[in-house]
Amino acid sequence: MKSERILVIGANGQIGSVLVEYLRGMYGENQVIASDLKVNSERQDYFEVLDATDGKTLDKIVKRHSITQIYHLAAILSAKGEQDPLNTWQINMQTYFNVLEVARENGVKKIFYPSSIAVFGAHVHGSADQFSYLDPSTVYGISKAAGENWSNYYFNRYGMDIRSLRYPGIISYQSMPGGGTTDYAVDIYHKAVKGEHFDCFLEENTTLPMIYMSDAMDATVRLMEAPAEKITVRTGYNLAGMSFSPKEIYDSILKIIPDFEISYKPDYRQAIAESWPQQIDDSEARTDWGWRPAYSLDKMTEEMITELRKKYEIVRS
Ligand code: NAD
Ligand code: SER
Repeated sequence: MKSERILVIGANGQIGSVLVEYLRGMYGENQVIASDLKVNSERQDYFEVLDATDGKTLDKIVKRHSITQIYHLAAILSAKGEQDPLNTWQINMQTYFNVLEVARENGVKKIFYPSSIAVFGAHVHGSADQFSYLDPSTVYGISKAAGENWSNYYFNRYGMDIRSLRYPGIISYQSMPGGGTTDYAVDIYHKAVKGEHFDCFLEENTTLPMIYMSDAMDATVRLMEAPAEKITVRTGYNLAGMSFSPKEIYDSILKIIPDFEISYKPDYRQAIAESWPQQIDDSEARTDWGWRPAYSLDKMTEEMITELRKKYEIVRS
């Protein structure tokens, strides 16, 4: 068992609730401290209530648990972020500045900073490569691009080992997403399994980059475990799993649930989706630390439906 002491901030969210269990499997139950704004009733052990905009409390927690690594997941995501742009900027940036400064002052060895495909904007047409121009359209994307640059600054200025992935939309059966533009791709499976009609908030041919949670976990740990000399990107690594449109995920589900029905009712999230690339070139991640996704759309669909049927205790007739 490895002797790291890990703090996960934003641990109750879509990624955090899966990542905490994943890291505990690797490092040991008591080595991973989960934290969020409120206690998680299902996971009260090794948990700290933390509003990460409060740097003093963060500092006390890092000292109390002799933390050596921080996974900073707390953020307001793309769609929810547009409801109150200045508050989104304040939360996303203040929490990250607190993490950077508390980590620097306490000699925390590694930080994970999740970035996003939302850093790209209108100047990327189709496929985004690692060094494509960043002109994000949302306050969320602006905060992620700024966070990436601050990561690079703290690496160059203080030698801090900060690692980052530009996650595509993440799809999971274990947890629900928290206010993003890619959330439809989780909700659609729940509706299909429950036998309900699905109203999609994106148009049928809007292709976006996505990744299955299992691949996202693998990529995150691979990056964090890679030898430091292999890390050539200190802003945020492009990461690709698969790309699909609402029509393509619907067709994939139809292969298992043939009577599933969908309608398309695009809303304000359509413009956000159209500002993002359709494909991601993740050559640097593949070359530097051996990234390869394991899931295709159909393989993910099979597993999502199997797991959600178990969750909802739906027995196939
Ligand atoms: P989420 O919205 O599901 O969870 C975020 C968590 O952060 C929530 O539990 C929330 O309570 C917590 N939080 C918010 N403000 C906080 C604060 N001030 N202090 C402490 N906790 C706070 O988000 P997620 O999908 O789990 O995403 C985690 C990270 O990964 C985010 O930074 C997000 O930008 C990034 N990301 C996610 C996706 C995705 O598809 N889920 C894609 C790209 C990047
Ligand atoms: N899934 C995220 C969102 O839609 C991408 O960062 O906001």
